[in-house]
Amino acid sequence: MRKNNFVKIDDWVKDIIVDPLSKQALRLSGNGEYLLSSYGRKYPIIGGVYDLRLLNNETTYDQKIWKKGQIEFMKYSRSEATSDNTNYDSELNGVREVYEEIPIDGTCLDVGGHQGKLRAFLEANQKYISCDPYLNIFDKVAEHTNLIKTYPFLLEPVNFLSCDAEFLPFKSCVFQIVHMRSVIDHFLNPELALNEAYRVLENKGSLIVGVYVNGGKQGKVCLKDRIKENIRTVLPYFGIHKYTDHHVWRATYKELTDLISACGFEIIKAHWQKGYSDTVCYIRALKKVELTRNFI
Ligand SMILES: C[S@@+](CC[C@H](N)C(=O)[O-])C[C@H]1O[C@@H](n2cnc3c(N)ncnc32)[C@H](O)[C@@H]1O
Repeated sequence: MRKNNFVKIDDWVKDIIVDPLSKQALRLSGNGEYLLSSYGRKYPIIGGVYDLRLLNNETTYDQKIWKKGQIEFMKYSRSEATSDNTNYDSELNGVREVYEEIPIDGTCLDVGGHQGKLRAFLEANQKYISCDPYLNIFDKVAEHTNLIKTYPFLLEPVNFLSCDAEFLPFKSCVFQIVHMRSVIDHFLNPELALNEAYRVLENKGSLIVGVYVNGGKQGKVCLKDRIKENIRTVLPYFGIHKYTDHHVWRATYKELTDLISACGFEIIKAHWQKGYSDTVCYIRALKKVELTRNFI
């Protein structure tokens, strides 16, 4: 397997990596091809990328929905890379104002961080890791000229490893920022992912969640959107799949903020991204210690 030149693991990252399940230390196998847990599990290193994913996701209904969505997302990403008409400048310029309002300050874990486009908003030498279950995310990145024109730093190695948001392979209390953009709606289990974010953040560390919310700022899904949604749900029964929504969780603003609060965070800012008619929200929330589960 050829070495992936877009990925690195700095020494400070090696120091905080643990087994995603036991949260105990891992050791490198003699041939350098695996990370070994203390209890019998081994994780491959593929072209230099640590593959610390845990689940096969082939069993329950939820897992199958997640997997289907993830496969569709990977297909879409690959097709974008080959026939590319996307205007990445407008994508990047569109989020500038967001990160002026909600800056990324401190050691940052970007969960579901893809190729690490968030680097556009970091200081030079700021500590940053992108983690994502999409192992081959850097395939063809160098040939994706339109993308590289806007994000030239994607050709520079980034701290990246493959894992699930629900089983983060990092020690506790080691990050100042956990960033989740357009991902909480993709996770297999958003609550577990927020529990993990809580665990790896230091006290008063910031969780930043950016996502499209159902019903927007008003929290009301208009009749037209409800009808569209109903049509979208029945189309597969007629063999039409191209409009299927593969997101796992389409939350309203209230559902989203309730979950963030229930997972031990205090919401200190909500910013609605300009140009999206108050449907895309970025939340900054601080970790509060003494989280207790509050339902019977
Ligand atoms: C729409 S993309 C967003 C990428 C990036 N955060 C951004 O804003 O450019 C959704 C990402 O979520 C990742 N993802 C899906 N399920 C995940 C999970 N369980 N844990 C972590 N990341 C996940 C996908 O692989 C994909 O890279």
